[in-house]
Amino acid sequence: MLKGIVVGFILAVIALVGGGYYYFANGMAPVATSEPPMPFERKLSSMALRARIEKDHVGESPVPADEPNFVAGAKVYKDHCAACHGLPNQPPTTYSTTMFPKPTQLFRGKGVTDDPPSESYWKAANGIRLSGMPSFKKSLTDTQLWQVSELVAHADQIPESAKQILVLDTPPPAAPAPASATKSGK
Ligand code: HEC
Repeated sequence: MLKGIVVGFILAVIALVGGGYYYFANGMAPVATSEPPMPFERKLSSMALRARIEKDHVGESPVPADEPNFVAGAKVYKDHCAACHGLPNQPPTTYSTTMFPKPTQLFRGKGVTDDPPSESYWKAANGIRLSGMPSFKKSLTDTQLWQVSELVAHADQIPESAKQILVLDTPPPAAPAPASATKSGK
């Protein structure tokens, strides 16, 4: 009886591992950004991320949520985050809509205003593996990371001075073509 259970258990483990290997080795797993998620992919990845952030105990923001920090955070955001996470009142960029997972539009809907700044700080500092979210630890200072985290946590209540930074750059007016080039007939 016991022997039967042990053999059954071993066979089940082999079938599971073998099935998993077959799924990945035969090109059945979705790998293109346009494909639907793998079974349990979203659930497992968000569970792992949440658990890890909790384990790391980031602590409270050393940067107050005030106007100078929102303005500084807006500059960081515009240069380093907006291409993926969007600007207020602008549609998402084309490439952000073709990524998997799609970057949350941080100035649309609730964005991450329901997450504490410490959570966004962890994500911006460390990046999120197997998503397009880079780590900014090497390109931004700790203060800048907190400033941009305060900004996105308060995306629905930032002052006008910060909003003015978060606008699309208008391209400079095209220089008039030199007279000789306009009707060269070539
Ligand atoms: C190249 C694209 C890209 C850039 C640039 C980028 N991110 Fe992300 N970001 C992502 C992706 C992709 C995700 C993952 C979304 C998911 O897991 O659903 C993400 C996730 C996040 C999240 C969590 C969103 C949520 O819904 O929980 C935060 C916060 C965040 N990024 C902040 C930033 C900040 C701040 C910057 C700039 C310093 C930045 N990101 C730059 C692509 C990007």
